[in-house]
Amino acid sequence: MRSFLGRDILSLKEWERAEYFRVFEVADDLAPIARNRRNSDLLSGKTLLTAFYQPSTRTRLATEAAMHRLGGHVLGFSDAKMTRAGDFYQESIKDTVHMLEYYGDVIAMRHFQQGAPAEAAKWSTVPVINCGDGWGEHPTQVLTDMYTIYKEMGRLDGLNFLLVGDMRMRTMHSIGYAMSQFNITATFISPPEMSLTEEFKQELRDLNLRFREVKTVTEAIGDADVIYMEPVVQADYTKSRVETTQDKGLTPAAYKVTRELMRDKAKPDSIILHSLPRMDELPADVDATRHARYWIEAFNGVVMRMALLALVLGARE
Ligand code: CP
Repeated sequence: MRSFLGRDILSLKEWERAEYFRVFEVADDLAPIARNRRNSDLLSGKTLLTAFYQPSTRTRLATEAAMHRLGGHVLGFSDAKMTRAGDFYQESIKDTVHMLEYYGDVIAMRHFQQGAPAEAAKWSTVPVINCGDGWGEHPTQVLTDMYTIYKEMGRLDGLNFLLVGDMRMRTMHSIGYAMSQFNITATFISPPEMSLTEEFKQELRDLNLRFREVKTVTEAIGDADVIYMEPVVQADYTKSRVETTQDKGLTPAAYKVTRELMRDKAKPDSIILHSLPRMDELPADVDATRHARYWIEAFNGVVMRMALLALVLGARE
């Protein structure tokens, strides 16, 4: 297994099965700190720098919370418009990162341009963690998802995943790569204009993932152990920020998971994950069913970022 020390976390494409289990072990080890709402001194003397060029509630705050839980320091920006990268100067990733690397020991970056964190990693002497890049990837979210499924189902091998939503979404790319490392069968459902690209399908075939595409949730939900959701009423992830409009549109029934559908068609022990934020594809009354796991995902999001920070900064091997 490759060492995590000093490693950039940019994509799950190259991740091997054993690496997932190692990260899960470290997450299990560190989880009691977060569960007991304590802070430790594992990363005291280390500083996390968050460089967020796109809005975020969960990813930035969970990563910052993780660093606090490990006793480290945190600084950064959540709006590039308040930096030289986002004003008149439009400072390049290269020039920005040459500054940031002196201010912190690890950089967590979200950007609207696919590949921006990889570009940052080329110029940074400290590890860069991709916290979502355009329509590219979202590795820390999907590591959280896989960890949550592993904890909740007790395994990853032998599960059927139903993936519903906009397949351009960065989580869908990262989870495609992640699923390929396990004995998982995937069923994808999306509106035609948001479907998997031929190029990505070929990548999944090359990774030996077994998958199919169907048209509606109803026709496949009965076989699913894990229902993994994203909105189809979506922001444009290539924009730094998208203002809300009065008319966002509604999700067609084919891409919704409702309480009634779960009652009538789903496996009794199936679980629902959603990286959030949600629109109307997952009504709030599903939250009180035994299937919902997206709130425990939120807790696990802190634990997973604790594990990744501890690994890349060398507090765990
Ligand atoms: N799941 C996720 O990436 O949420 P945020 O956009 O709030 O970080």
